[in-house]
Amino acid sequence: MKTIIEPFRIKVVEPIRFTTGEEREALIAEAGFNPFRLRADDVMIDLLTDSGTSAMSAEGWAGIMRGDESYAGARSWFRFRDRVREVFGFEHVVPVHQGRAAERILFGLLVKPGMVVPSNAHFDTTRANIEFCGGRAVDLPCPEAAEPALEAPFKGNMDVAALERLIASTGAEHIPLVMLTITNNSGGGQPVSMANVHAVAAVARKHGIPFYIDACRFAENAWFIKQREPGWAEAPIPEIVRALFAEADGCTMSAKKDAFSNTGGFLCTRDPQLAQQERDLLILTEGFPTYGGLAGRDLEAIAVGLEEILDEHYLRYRAASTAYVVDRLASAGVPVVRPAGGHAVYLDARRFLPHVPPLRYPGQSLVVALYVEAGIRGCEIGTAMFGLDPHTGEERPAHWDLVRLAIPRRVYTQSHMDYVVEATLEVWRRRERLGGMRIVEAPRFLRHFSARFAPD
Ligand code: F0G
Repeated sequence: MKTIIEPFRIKVVEPIRFTTGEEREALIAEAGFNPFRLRADDVMIDLLTDSGTSAMSAEGWAGIMRGDESYAGARSWFRFRDRVREVFGFEHVVPVHQGRAAERILFGLLVKPGMVVPSNAHFDTTRANIEFCGGRAVDLPCPEAAEPALEAPFKGNMDVAALERLIASTGAEHIPLVMLTITNNSGGGQPVSMANVHAVAAVARKHGIPFYIDACRFAENAWFIKQREPGWAEAPIPEIVRALFAEADGCTMSAKKDAFSNTGGFLCTRDPQLAQQERDLLILTEGFPTYGGLAGRDLEAIAVGLEEILDEHYLRYRAASTAYVVDRLASAGVPVVRPAGGHAVYLDARRFLPHVPPLRYPGQSLVVALYVEAGIRGCEIGTAMFGLDPHTGEERPAHWDLVRLAIPRRVYTQSHMDYVVEATLEVWRRRERLGGMRIVEAPRFLRHFSARFAPD
């Protein structure tokens, strides 16, 4: 059969509250033209994030009932720890309440003021946590990543030559770790190839620098390797995952993505001393090392999710549903990041609205237009998110201005996606009438979450 179906049936549903365009115009103005400030009830199709928004399975909910809430040494902890070890191959597993807690603990121990942390592209919380420790987060995307419309299989890769140059100019002693984000969320949800992971690991090892993977969407990345990288087509997904992590010294993980969980995460390492230091910090701010701020039921749900996420029927459907939207938009001439990534569709707002300069936030303008048009909530990934240097206060255009329409796992059907395509095409037709935005008020760190905007 050619038709790729959702590999599940729906047992529980949530109603969508319908709103009119007029209502949405008032609501978004009240929210300072920032969809993060909207009430979720005022959103019809919520594509703000794929994080913590997954639909759990019957087995996942059964795990919630099985959760052991003992403070120390709970049965659910051992199930969680053993599952993480089995999937990723790391000895030491530190549970945390979500990915950024893993980042804070890891960087809090390794990053000192003035140090530099390279990555293919840091996610916003990763960058902010490095900067909070006085470090500098440097993105080294491969050259293909700069061209959103270019079809290349692994646009999430790091530029390995640029990494070598950075190490030579900075000095290995000032680089506490090298990171790779798989898939590369900030760079369009594009995968990183196995060859690139191994090349980056080899450079880091040569200079004695620890190599870490930000593993949030590891299963989607493994699926793309199986589809696109010579030599991996026949390998089972769990084997690809093990090969991805085999040369890493550790990982940070948000279980809110590729573990189908509504919360949780973990930090892994092979270094027993570092693990002990991490646990010491964990007790201070997150919780005892056998729960790390999570309920036993969350640990149980994550253990189930880490099994389901490796199912090839699921991964095939997941990639196909994203590609469906990307292909339909691209064939109508809408500028989108190509090829389709795993978890999201990225509109290229800079090309969608070429008359709006980056410092007038074309991505934010497009996000607002989609909401007003059809009640769809997306997220700007561009100059509003990354344009401000919090240390100098200087503002400059980000690498790109994208709008991310993140697709929650197992939540929306194909007709919801048809609706998203229709709304985007409608905004595309009237794009010349859209103007820019300016920021009215914003904090220094992670300003996009709470900033208030106004039409320019
Ligand atoms: N790393 C990546 C690549 C992420 O995408 C995220 C979160 C994190 C780290 C932090 O994890 O939210 O559990 O603390 N990304 C979400 C998103 C918020 O919408 O892409 P967290």
